[in-house]
Amino acid sequence: MIKLKVPATSANIGPGFDCLGLAYSFYNEYNIEKSDKMLIEGCDPAFNTKKNEFNIAFEKTMKVLNKKGSYHVVENPFVPASRGLGSSANVIVAGCKAANLLYGNGKLSDDEIFQIATNVEGHPDNIAPAIFGGLTASVMFENGYYFHKKYKVSNKLYFTVLIPDFKTSTKIARKLLPKKYKREEMVHTISHCILLVEALQSGNFDLLKTVCKDVVHEPYRKRLIKDYDLIKKTVEKNGDAVLLISGSGPTLLAISKNKSFAKNLKLKHTKSNWIVKELKIYEG
Ligand code: HSE
Repeated sequence: MIKLKVPATSANIGPGFDCLGLAYSFYNEYNIEKSDKMLIEGCDPAFNTKKNEFNIAFEKTMKVLNKKGSYHVVENPFVPASRGLGSSANVIVAGCKAANLLYGNGKLSDDEIFQIATNVEGHPDNIAPAIFGGLTASVMFENGYYFHKKYKVSNKLYFTVLIPDFKTSTKIARKLLPKKYKREEMVHTISHCILLVEALQSGNFDLLKTVCKDVVHEPYRKRLIKDYDLIKKTVEKNGDAVLLISGSGPTLLAISKNKSFAKNLKLKHTKSNWIVKELKIYEG
């Protein structure tokens, strides 16, 4: 029997669409053992199927290992699903690691697992922090290899997720995005993204506030989150926090320079119920 803990993640972080991600000390847990027959428990029984992303990731890893065998997994999904906290990357990383540990003696490196898991997910921005922790930037080389770089996040910044009581689909949220962008949107994104990485590392909140603005996905996705404008106004009213969409939403991420930010935040007149949770960065 092996036990795995895989962290929740926020992808994008504003202008870092499909390439930046952050990992939190907030985890899903998995107990896994070898078995003759696939069995996925701890979730809705409808998810006990071969199409479950845990199973897809497990089987892809077994193929790389050139091994045959199955498993019984009991999931403890503390991270809410379909909320923009990387739950899909979470099960994919767990599936890859489970195969590697149960049948491969752990011979695949984290980087090899990163390649397999990203190919299952389709983009690396949740997968990289779920494996390596911290703040990660990822890029796909022309030969299909995914490269990542990990950065340490300043302890002068405080991260608070606001999780609503409704779900959204990443597939639908991706369909809302334009196929093409203008040159000025491209320049905005490159410049803001580079300096966002600098601001998160240095803890320079004034810089963070300036560069944490996205033109690629947030303007198109905020309509899926009815309380977005109200919450943005509330979070940013004192000038000590910025609000972003976590991944493809609907969870929102506030980054603040004020350590009492989460404790003092009062959301009023929202249409949905929101859980406010301050999270520490998982360093990996
Ligand atoms: N970068 C992805 C998106 C994250 O925004 O669609 C969600 O998986």
